[in-house]
Amino acid sequence: MSKVLIQFAHPSHSKSNVQKTLEKYARKVKGVTFNDLYEHYPDLFIDVKREQQLLAKHDIVIFQHPFYWYSSPPILKQWQDLVLEYNWAYGPKGHALKGKKIFNAVSCGGGRDAYTSDGYNRFPVGQYLLPFNQTAYLCRMEYLPPFVVHETYTIEDYVLKAFGEQYAELLEALVNDRIDPAELAGVEYLNELFPH
Ligand SMILES: Cc1cc2nc3c(=O)[nH]c(=O)nc-3n(C[C@H](O)[C@H](O)[C@H](O)COP(=O)(O)O)c2cc1C
Repeated sequence: MSKVLIQFAHPSHSKSNVQKTLEKYARKVKGVTFNDLYEHYPDLFIDVKREQQLLAKHDIVIFQHPFYWYSSPPILKQWQDLVLEYNWAYGPKGHALKGKKIFNAVSCGGGRDAYTSDGYNRFPVGQYLLPFNQTAYLCRMEYLPPFVVHETYTIEDYVLKAFGEQYAELLEALVNDRIDPAELAGVEYLNELFPH
């Protein structure tokens, strides 16, 4: 069994539709800790010790957030800057996160076709997430492909519900160590492991 920590970052939770739905499904999965960063730190004063202790207690970390300007809302950057300390998370003595898995669970206004070389966003979502990927690498973590919900502005309720169920399936599989690393070869989005 693995312990999963969701680091949730949405600056206007009351206006959220997609992330709030994913949250509802995630909170039902046993073995998942849901840490709402803006709820805990509305002024971005992050409790570094609390966050490091949470990380130490979990095996898999998920940054769950809407895609904002091809990245995350700012609290995740603040969190990285403060929590991932030298010789704790990285550096010659920084082994606290070694071997843990990590990925982003994001929602994008743009469609999947927009995130292609011919589309108006030109690059795939995975390329925009490279700073998260490389940060994980430096911290000796294993970066997995993202879980992605596209076209959030026009998404219909039944489609969103299906994404919520898919996210819960993914979380349950992670908790129960049911994802074989070999399955991830060639996978662009983790969604692909749970076709709907
Ligand atoms: C400030 C801001 C920046 C955004 N930047 C992007 C972006 O770079 N790419 C994209 O696909 N969608 C972008 N969007 C759309 C959001 O990703 C989308 O509204 C959100 O994922 C929907 O989730 P929610 O219902 O939980 O808010 C942006 C929205 C806002 C408010």
